[in-house]
Amino acid sequence: MKTDKNTNALNAENTNESSGALLRKAVKKNAKYLVGIVLFSVVTAGFTAVNPVFYKKIIDEAIPNRDIKTLLFCVALMAAFPVVNVGISLLRQRCVFNFTDKCERELRTQFFAKILRMNYPAFMELGPVKLMSVITRSTGRIIELFLSTDVITGVSAVFQSLLIFGIIFRYNKIIAAVTFVVVPVIFIAIKFFQDKIGNLQKDYLRILNRGEKFFLQVFNGMKTVRSYSGQEKEKAGLKQWLDEVSKNKWDIEKSNITVRTFIPVAAAQVVLGGIFTFCAFSVMKDTMTIGILVAVITYVPMLINSIQSILNMGIGKISISKILDDLDSILNEEDEYDGGNKDEIPNSGSLAFKDVDFTYGRENFDLKIENLEIEEGDFVTIVGTTGGGKSSVMDIINKYYPITSGSVSFDGVSIDEIGTDTLRRHISTMFQDVYMFNGTIAENIAYPGKPDPDRVNEVMEKAQLTEFVGKLPNGAQEIVEADGANFSGGECQRIALARMLYKEADIYLLDEPTAALDANTSKAIFDVLADENRNGKTIIAITHDAGKATYGNKVIVVSGGRIIEYGPPAKLLEQNGAFASLYEAQTKMD
Ligand SMILES: Nc1ncnc2c1ncn2[C@@H]1O[C@H](COP(=O)(O)OP(=O)(O)OP(=O)(O)O)[C@@H](O)[C@H]1O
Ligand SMILES: [Mg+2]
Repeated sequence: MKTDKNTNALNAENTNESSGALLRKAVKKNAKYLVGIVLFSVVTAGFTAVNPVFYKKIIDEAIPNRDIKTLLFCVALMAAFPVVNVGISLLRQRCVFNFTDKCERELRTQFFAKILRMNYPAFMELGPVKLMSVITRSTGRIIELFLSTDVITGVSAVFQSLLIFGIIFRYNKIIAAVTFVVVPVIFIAIKFFQDKIGNLQKDYLRILNRGEKFFLQVFNGMKTVRSYSGQEKEKAGLKQWLDEVSKNKWDIEKSNITVRTFIPVAAAQVVLGGIFTFCAFSVMKDTMTIGILVAVITYVPMLINSIQSILNMGIGKISISKILDDLDSILNEEDEYDGGNKDEIPNSGSLAFKDVDFTYGRENFDLKIENLEIEEGDFVTIVGTTGGGKSSVMDIINKYYPITSGSVSFDGVSIDEIGTDTLRRHISTMFQDVYMFNGTIAENIAYPGKPDPDRVNEVMEKAQLTEFVGKLPNGAQEIVEADGANFSGGECQRIALARMLYKEADIYLLDEPTAALDANTSKAIFDVLADENRNGKTIIAITHDAGKATYGNKVIVVSGGRIIEYGPPAKLLEQNGAFASLYEAQTKMD
């Protein structure tokens, strides 16, 4: 019995919270920086709002009384405040940095973990570009929006407007009352358009995603694009995307101009004009001093600015909720098909399929396996027509896709009951489309662990890599680029084979392990697999080479999603059926 203690620890993190809850959690965790930001913002706002009081004092008191002491005192303070303010702003920026950095880190960690455990069909459907942009862009954007609109400007604007309102109220109650009435009117007018901007911003994110998808496709297919002279077609694709970007950007700009600039400026000018006229009349009638007039007309634009910041806070909130919706579409995806709670399974290395029904959801294909038993120590080869469903069997055994009905058992336990990680620890798979990570050959083989040089050498020998790697300037320390761009298909295939052998597992699953290799190397590799099998490993190998299929003690012939023949190769050859004709065709070719 093997026990996998890690499984429970892994499952413990798998809580599916909404993105709103994740954001709140991150904000709560870093609340101390928020307090700092708010505190410093309020102090800065206070310092900025206090200058016009000095204007009034200078104009109404110092100048008429020729009071040089008061004048110098006021001027000194007016000069000192901005300098102090810069110091405070630095402290505030430090808090902003800490808050943003820590919250982003938290969200990015959570999203990456979610993507790593998300069910595989959903992962494929959402696609790498969207998922990438969520981690790099949306998480950062949402914190930025939260801060710029909700906290810093929000709190300091509320504080500043209350302070200014209080000062104006002391100077003149009528002016205070007028601004108090007119400003909410602006607020209502602007709120009317807010939703529109939020939607446009969400569209813009979608358009950017589409662009990234387009570029990725062109760049990944660069050789094909050039060989087929597809440059003009791709340029047309770019133009279409650019048109979309321009139109949407202009729509956003238009709304911004109307909602954030034109309406507030027009309204502000009307209010300001009215107040200025009123103040001028009051000065003429001697019911107001010139100092108050100067202070009031300096304060009113400041007040309008603050109120505008409060309004933008609302717009920001709408963008935040749109992004949260988008993020939720990822978080709402179910986790990987697991259901298993068994961390403990016997490791004899047998597999059984009973009444299995499987489909990818596309109508042209379904796979049915009524009864199939693979015993411990079997070497099973799978052959058959292309598109027949061979690789699908690997997807099912690894639990990448759930079966519709029936059961697949590993050592007598249904895989539905076995934790996904536990199951995969017992199986080592070499997929049809081999993948290379950016790193050394040794790291690729020992993935995800630290390479043990002796074991790396041992599996390289088995995978027929020793001679090739020996000739490389840096041997097994040679760097492989992502997707193996700097190595040949056959070299990558052998590195993937070495990786499969490096992992301690009971069963080896191989999907066309020698498809890119010459006949001699293929034979050498199947000889090694036979050795591994003699040493007790259960092996299931898909191959298009019916000649190699005879390495197995059992052969499965798959066609159109059905097992059409199953048995020892000699017996199938005797039967003169599908396998016999595949074998005959292959040997003729050889
Ligand atoms: N992710 C997927 N979504 C939808 N259909 C899929 C998916 N993967 C494979 N299919 C379809 O399922 C069928 C079986 O595919 P599978 O990869 O199992 O065939 P195969 O026998 O391995 O073929 P080959 O010999 O060409 O590798 C095919 O018709 C294929 O188009
Ligand atoms: Mg296949």
